[in-house]
Amino acid sequence: MINGTKAVDRALRWGMVGGGGTSQIGYIHRSAALRDGNFRLLAGAFDIDAERGRAFGTSLGVAAERCYPDYETLFAAEAAREDGIEAVSVATPNNTHFAICRAALNAGLHVVCEKPLCFTTQEADELERLCKAKNKLIGVTYGYAGHQLIQQAREMIAQGMLGEIRIVNMQFAHGFHHEAVELQNLSTRWRVDPRFVGPSYVLGDLATHPLFLAETMAPQLKVKRLLCSRQSFIASRAPLEDNAFVMMEYDNGAVGTLWASAVNCGSMHGQKIRIVGAKASLEWWDEQPNQLRYEVQGEPVRILERGMPYLTPRALEEDRIGGGHPEGLFEAWSNLYRRFAQAFAASDRGDTAFLQTFWYPDVHAGLAGVRWVEQCVKSADAGAVWVEC
Ligand code: NAI
Repeated sequence: MINGTKAVDRALRWGMVGGGGTSQIGYIHRSAALRDGNFRLLAGAFDIDAERGRAFGTSLGVAAERCYPDYETLFAAEAAREDGIEAVSVATPNNTHFAICRAALNAGLHVVCEKPLCFTTQEADELERLCKAKNKLIGVTYGYAGHQLIQQAREMIAQGMLGEIRIVNMQFAHGFHHEAVELQNLSTRWRVDPRFVGPSYVLGDLATHPLFLAETMAPQLKVKRLLCSRQSFIASRAPLEDNAFVMMEYDNGAVGTLWASAVNCGSMHGQKIRIVGAKASLEWWDEQPNQLRYEVQGEPVRILERGMPYLTPRALEEDRIGGGHPEGLFEAWSNLYRRFAQAFAASDRGDTAFLQTFWYPDVHAGLAGVRWVEQCVKSADAGAVWVEC
């Protein structure tokens, strides 16, 4: 059980790029990083508008001289300080991730980056190489991967409770962009503009989430080939898709499907993962994150509740309150940030043995998502053909 004590010897000195006062995702980064005292927010380039960023940073308690106009100045000025930041989170629109991550690693910082990590496999490979060269880590915020019931599913699958995995059925299909809301909403506007999001909309923005959840639950499955069909129901979004279907074949003979959509009218979020084995299935839905359905063929459905003693120790160790009280996205993110801090601290003390077995969404998780989106776009643009992964 987490009781608020630090998971590392001392709080890591931390900064942010993006995540400003008007952003969608900045608050959950701060809430997660600061919750258990594993990070201290000391600097930032919080906003594309320097003045607004400074005003926002100081309102958070960051010293005015450490609220910088841009990330280049942030990294250079902090590197020159004895008490400069050791880690940075990147919460800016997608087109900036690669350049900011590269600059952060070059400045000797550990990085927490939003998904998608970058646009191309080549860029992701470069970041991975840079991590090795600089001896720094990248964590990627696939938020719900930190939820205890995702870890429960991982353990049950590893223990063979489902039998050999046959089918992975994934979706992240909401209805919020069923019409051209981008005409009014700035946060949506860049999401449907290739200059900001590269080659895809819902594949990169939404699909990579359930894809990583499924990878976390069943890491042994490797996608061998895939076929993707994508549509732009709001015509002005073309060539970017607001709906996509992907079929996958895994190397063990299992098959998978993933439906990503922003035009699924009436659906709030619709992120679901169903993993079907030869004996039983598991299903998790982000709108009811504290319940995991365990369905054994021929037996009544079991609803496994978070926080109950029948779960595995791994699924209980990151609870913050007993079962019955709902935990959700904010707690899952806090679990991830706690793990990022532990990984960064282990890296700094050269503890490779710890890192070898320690789970968190790392640079490879970022790379896998980028490569998968790239192959989906290739398949769709060739007329929905099978492509090797
Ligand atoms: P947003 O448009 O609401 O906010 C972006 C923020 O970044 C703003 O504060 C803006 O001023 C700032 N910014 C833009 N360019 C900058 C630059 N060069 N330097 C410094 N600050 C800059 O975007 P939102 O929705 O918060 O998304 C940000 C990132 O988070 C995206 O990559 C998105 O895919 C990701 N995201 C991830 C989620 C998750 O569940 N992991 C959920 C929502 C978004």
